Amino acid sequence: MGAIWSLLGYPDTGRTDDPDPVTELTSRDRYLIKSSYQAVRKTPTDSGVALLNLYFKNHPEAKQLFPFKDVPDSELSQNKRYQAHCNSVIYGFSAVVDAIDDPDILVPILAKLGETHVPRKVTKELFMQLRDTIIELFSSFMKPEEMDAWKKTLKVAFDVITGAMK
Ligand code: HEM
Repeated sequence: MGAIWSLLGYPDTGRTDDPDPVTELTSRDRYLIKSSYQAVRKTPTDSGVALLNLYFKNHPEAKQLFPFKDVPDSELSQNKRYQAHCNSVIYGFSAVVDAIDDPDILVPILAKLGETHVPRKVTKELFMQLRDTIIELFSSFMKPEEMDAWKKTLKVAFDVITGAMK
């Protein structure tokens, strides 16, 4: 039925009774993730700066792992190297959102994120703290229904990321 509504020009907002066997996300969850993420994707550098500024405010020790660790907080948002990194992080999120309907691609993308961060001394705890910061930031502009889908998605995504960190 959803496909018919789509053909008629109505958005297919998904079902709530069809959890994916791997991620347990319903098509409604996945619809909410993709639609609410559009605002984040539109301005990747600004979104990434907002996220990492909040992350470093909550967890200043995380900043010490980065090449821009000595840039004062008051100058960080204008630093081009920092902006470039923030932009890459949002592109990383975009790859996750774009693969949300295809667990065969999604799981390896997430596992790779975990693996590539181990040599950078990123711990599981730092990842979980980033997850909480994403929830804090997104809650400031997304609807409760969208946040429910994000909390569910971030739980499974970060479990896969940290599970791949040996
Ligand atoms: C799901 C969340 C994350 C995403 C999507 C992400 C994405 C990225 C990307 C795209 C890069 C640069 C490309 C590369 O070399 O692979 C990178 C590098 C890096 N990330 Fe993450 N990251 C995440 C979480 C974290 C966390 C929690 C930390 C902890 C502080 C962290 C610390 C670093 C560091 C230190 C680098 C190297 C930076 C450099 O040398 O320039 N990342 N990350």
